[in-house]
Amino acid sequence: MASQREGARCASRRGAGLLHSTFNMLAFSWIIISELMLSAHCLKDLKIFVPEAVIMGNAATLSCQYDLEQAALYAVRWYFGQEEFYRYVPREAKPTFVFAVAGINVDLTNSDATSVTLKGVTRELSGSYQCEVSEDAPLFHTEIRSAHMQVIELPKDDPVMQVDKKVIGANDHFKAVCTVGPSYPPANITWYINGRKIYKTPLQRITQDAFEGSTTYSSLEIYPHSQVLQGFFQAMPKYQPNIMLLCEVSILHVFHKSVQQRIGLSNAPPTTISPNLLGLEGSKRYANGDPDNSALTGASQCICCSAVGSVTLALATLAVAQL
Ligand SMILES: *[C@@H]1O[C@H](CO)[C@@H](O)[C@H](O)[C@H]1NC(C)=O
Repeated sequence: MASQREGARCASRRGAGLLHSTFNMLAFSWIIISELMLSAHCLKDLKIFVPEAVIMGNAATLSCQYDLEQAALYAVRWYFGQEEFYRYVPREAKPTFVFAVAGINVDLTNSDATSVTLKGVTRELSGSYQCEVSEDAPLFHTEIRSAHMQVIELPKDDPVMQVDKKVIGANDHFKAVCTVGPSYPPANITWYINGRKIYKTPLQRITQDAFEGSTTYSSLEIYPHSQVLQGFFQAMPKYQPNIMLLCEVSILHVFHKSVQQRIGLSNAPPTTISPNLLGLEGSKRYANGDPDNSALTGASQCICCSAVGSVTLALATLAVAQL
């Protein structure tokens, strides 16, 4: 008799849920009243706890908490996707049952009515897990909850950073590249200068590429007058003329590793004199393979046999001579 009354209470609570969606306010106050007046004895507060991320090869403990109040437990069932892999039925002599599901290896010594432990998880075990709890007869009131677990494969090598300049001036274009070996899922790469995150802007370009099973790659390009460096150049020479560039590699909340490099800042005037300052407009066109009728056509013998630096020097000398 008592359990029938409990059943009525459980049922009326479900009714409250329905009403709630239809007559919001009315139902809400009705729930409060019913909670105060009746203390239902049935399965409630079912919560599932599944690690968001687990490193491949490690164990994972999934758990399910519930309040049966005075009802008895009939069974707890665990599913990976739609496949049941573990069941706990307290009224059986041996209450634990394991069902063969590809890749799942249940650690029975660490599994019970509220949790199940999986040994040596593999990448294939990333996905959705469900816990289903049923009350015993006569109601068999059942609830189910699901949560996602991601199995992570860590990169084997440390991240590496390469920079195109060790010292940069206010008018320099600067590029750095950070790479890290294959991981699953591909890592996220974040850039920092002196501990502050660098955001993407038109003068601070950041790209990231990752393909499954290959290296993750991120490039950072900083153009003159970028927001991130402007402050440092303006503060010079009052402060230490260098910055710390850091590349952080992360995979969810499980893996973080970084590599850093000190970069000097220079506010010395540019050492190379712009050809334009010497009236050498023509040298540019010439370098592009268009030696039209500029005054510098005569320099053509030098181009094949010299390094670019000495070509510039030769051009400059010629131009000065012609002036
Ligand atoms: C990368 O960052 C995004 C945005 O913060 C996040 O949603 C995603 O889960 C992260 N991926 C990894 C592998 O950490």
